[in-house]
Amino acid sequence: MRQHLIMGNWKLNGTKASVEALVEGLKAPVAAAANVEVAVCAPVIFLGQVEQLTAGSALKYGSQDADVHTSGAFTGENSPVMLKEFGCKYALVGHSERRTLHAETDAVVAAKFVAIQAADLVPVLCIGETLEQFEANQTNAVVEAQLKAVIDVAGIEALAKSVIAYEPVWAIGTGKTATPEIAQAVHAHIRAYLAGFNADVAAKVQVLYGGSMNAANAADLLAQADIDGGLIGGASLKVADFTAIIEAAA
Ligand code: G3P
Repeated sequence: MRQHLIMGNWKLNGTKASVEALVEGLKAPVAAAANVEVAVCAPVIFLGQVEQLTAGSALKYGSQDADVHTSGAFTGENSPVMLKEFGCKYALVGHSERRTLHAETDAVVAAKFVAIQAADLVPVLCIGETLEQFEANQTNAVVEAQLKAVIDVAGIEALAKSVIAYEPVWAIGTGKTATPEIAQAVHAHIRAYLAGFNADVAAKVQVLYGGSMNAANAADLLAQADIDGGLIGGASLKVADFTAIIEAAA
């Protein structure tokens, strides 16, 4: 039985005051939630504050990206080793906003995945198709290619120490959530594809759904057999909304 994981992706949002209010507001619902792990992925500039605020809490945290270099003459990069030193457990990799806005190819994503694991962080590998690909019935082919690009470099066993987040691009930030049936079908396909490489890894790896998950639809999505949690953007920025999703996962 895979544990539910509810992860907030704050994207480029927050102030010192809002970060404190959000983390403090989540402590009680996180402590009360049984059999669900909760994490937040903050802008990197807030990770030191999040580390201090979450001390003694079950609330985990991570970064929204990580670079392959650990130290040296790489201005502006974020070292996975430094992220680990600041107490991160997770690092998102391959989020569609980085694939599109920062031209991150499958090869770049695979290299970052390896670097994140080498720093003893858990990579959250984000995959998903665009609306055009969805409408052309290319969803399964797209997610298979994104997974294979990482498997070819890191090996299938590495995915056992990672999390996968299926995020249909057309559902991100749009309010157009995939139906539980559509999401379950893709999650089941992802698991079947991984089983073709290693059945144990396929059974173990958590596959999260992301794309306009909210308080109203979380329970139906999380009730699906192959949906092991959520990667939540907008609804993770409000204590009440994120708490409702956590409670739906418990
Ligand atoms: O990484 C999660 C994010 O892409 C989903 O955003 O606002 O649709 O929940 P949102």
